[in-house]
Amino acid sequence: MDRSLSTAARAFARSAFGRDGRLFFASGRVNLLGAHIDYHGGCVLPVAVDRGVAVVAAPRADRKLRLASADFPARFELDLDALPSAATLGWSAYPVGVVAALRADGHALPGLDLAFAGDLPIGAGLSSSAAILVATATAVAALAGIELAPIDAARLAFRVETTFVGVKCGIMDPFASALGKPGHALALDCKTQRYDHVALPVERMAFLMLDSMTRRELKDGGFNRRVAESTGALAKLQAVLPHATCLRDVTPAELERHRPLLTDQEWQRARHVVTEVARVARARGHLERGELLEFGQLMWLSHLSSRHLYEVSTPRLDALQELSLSHPGCWGARLTGAGFGGCALAVVRPDAVEPFSARVAAGFEQRFGQRPAIHALRFGQAPGEVVDA
Ligand code: GLA
Repeated sequence: MDRSLSTAARAFARSAFGRDGRLFFASGRVNLLGAHIDYHGGCVLPVAVDRGVAVVAAPRADRKLRLASADFPARFELDLDALPSAATLGWSAYPVGVVAALRADGHALPGLDLAFAGDLPIGAGLSSSAAILVATATAVAALAGIELAPIDAARLAFRVETTFVGVKCGIMDPFASALGKPGHALALDCKTQRYDHVALPVERMAFLMLDSMTRRELKDGGFNRRVAESTGALAKLQAVLPHATCLRDVTPAELERHRPLLTDQEWQRARHVVTEVARVARARGHLERGELLEFGQLMWLSHLSSRHLYEVSTPRLDALQELSLSHPGCWGARLTGAGFGGCALAVVRPDAVEPFSARVAAGFEQRFGQRPAIHALRFGQAPGEVVDA
């Protein structure tokens, strides 16, 4: 966690609530490969990053839950024993959902002041929502004396986002935030929830976040629509492939054989999923053997499939990917996260970071009249309390 974020979070807590507290942090993530397949049971390869969400948490003697965020003007003062539903809560639906879930699990919680600050762009595909959920779960559990292992914080976060907040996302983001390891990608099987870590050839890889400077909200519907469209394709395929419990169980050959059962749009969505599942399976070996050229090609293909088949890209994200492709120092680039705006991830040779960034920024500005924010990302840390030096 960046030192300037801890300073900013503490200063914000003092200005919002007139008091300091204990500081906790959870990472955001980029996903190297595996777009929109976590909720279809696929395997994904995310990396936790050093940008994320910090929360300054302090217990209260009364039953109030007070919430403030440095990123949003709305503040909330709620009765811990009568928490409202997500509809009226705006950004605070995420932390309130965590508090409600811990209470529903039978935990006794004290009144709390929670002050949030972050250094992830919000709604930009770097998993700001999982970071706020995991940070809240970690902080509240610590203050209430609840034993909560990182994987349990991830499961809780997933439950809150899919039920309380109502985004039909998969498990990738909270698992990446909770279980990432420096120097490694998390190889997460979203069907079994088994995982291990793949060591990356880090001396040859720099990670750059390329911000298209547009935002989306998953609650807005595009994301849930894609989930519904692709799940609709699965339902039709299950009539002839009863063994398939999720799209990950369908092979590309089976999909082609049964294409007449599907509308063109359903086929497109399913085709993205089954080919992306196959790409991730190949990617792991390439990473382990340090074959970054081959790995990068899979990133290009993933982006094209997200763009043309799953239709979650935008002209700005496509431009970032194409500009990246035109630089010889880039191994690969693709949109990261849900798409519909937000960021692309470029994996670049460390010695090429500066010329690469300059070329991409200039090309993007020429086309859209706006400079993209480009940031180098370092590896994140496990969620937990941050003790200032
Ligand atoms: C969002 C969701 C994830 C995943 C990605 C797309 O980040 O929260 O579960 O589906 O989009 O890969």
